[in-house]
Amino acid sequence: MYSKTKSLMARGSAFLGSDYAILCGAMSWVSERNLVAAISNAGGFGVIACGAMTPDLLDAEIAATKALATKPFGVNLITMHPLLFDLIAVCAKHGVGHVVLAGGIPPKGSIEALKAAGAKVICIPPTLALARKYLRSGADALVIEGSEAGGHIGPVATSVLAQEILPELADDHLVFVAGGIGRGEAIAGYLEMGAAGVQLGTRFACASESIAHPDFKKAFFRANARDAVASVQVDPRLPVIPVRALKNKGTEEFTAKQLEVARLLDEGQVDMTEAQLQIEHFWAGALRRAVIEGDVENGSIMAGQSVGMVTQEEPVAAIIAELLGESETALARR
Ligand SMILES: Cc1cc2nc3c(=O)[nH]c(=O)nc-3n(C[C@H](O)[C@H](O)[C@H](O)COP(=O)(O)O)c2cc1C
Repeated sequence: MYSKTKSLMARGSAFLGSDYAILCGAMSWVSERNLVAAISNAGGFGVIACGAMTPDLLDAEIAATKALATKPFGVNLITMHPLLFDLIAVCAKHGVGHVVLAGGIPPKGSIEALKAAGAKVICIPPTLALARKYLRSGADALVIEGSEAGGHIGPVATSVLAQEILPELADDHLVFVAGGIGRGEAIAGYLEMGAAGVQLGTRFACASESIAHPDFKKAFFRANARDAVASVQVDPRLPVIPVRALKNKGTEEFTAKQLEVARLLDEGQVDMTEAQLQIEHFWAGALRRAVIEGDVENGSIMAGQSVGMVTQEEPVAAIIAELLGESETALARR
């Protein structure tokens, strides 16, 4: 079954140790033991989102995932976590096979430490130049993620990144494509361009096995592509890292907050450091509020533009089967 797709995915699945080279990208609060194990057990590759977890919490999460998963899974670490090297030690203790380093340039020694522990390292370069640099530094594979994706995003669309990076690197390296993938036809297209596999987040966030709050899931099922908007920076002095999330009261208030802080700055009531901190702290805890507490008004409902293709709760296995079926049909028509 799915023989054409599987053959195009062969390098990627051999690297991951999964049946199919379909990663479920780590999603903070969402990608915990239940979803991760469900993805891997269904033949994809689940990745635990460490996010801001302490080393002890990560330790417990990996142990719990191991108890549920019968197939390999990975761990996603955020490079600016203050205890990154302790988190790496936790992954090493558990013999985690694949670690994704997200959120910026991996600090000196981090790739080496992971490789010394026997883990395969996956990096997420925003440009071709950084892609080459990460490979030189020892990355075993890359995920290129375009701005259609949910969560923290770069400025360039998946379709453009794929055209810039795949022809240069995909023959000799493993490159997975992420961002905006909602159907199998798109998977087939990127595989034909040389991708070793794909990574999806939004499409899996509301699977039956996901612990996301029912109201978070409802917001996804109701939303269209145009509702998943990137946060906008209002004042050039106050940097905002773009995050793609569903429009809600929180996103409107964030704009108002930026205007207010800019005014306080103009009036000399706050200094630049305080102003920037107020902007940075606005969303603290906001993803947890939406995913876990179901506060879809004030929380951050991170979602990619493919959210319009997520219309109902389905088991992970059904989603993967649907994606593979669509890819296979598309390839058979070629
Ligand atoms: C709710 C949510 C939370 C996310 N959290 C993280 C994260 O903690 N670390 C990370 O590297 N990527 C994170 N992402 C990005 C995903 O791993 C994945 O690359 C992305 O969702 C793929 O694009 P798509 O949403 O268009 O499928 C998140 C995405 C979403 C939707």
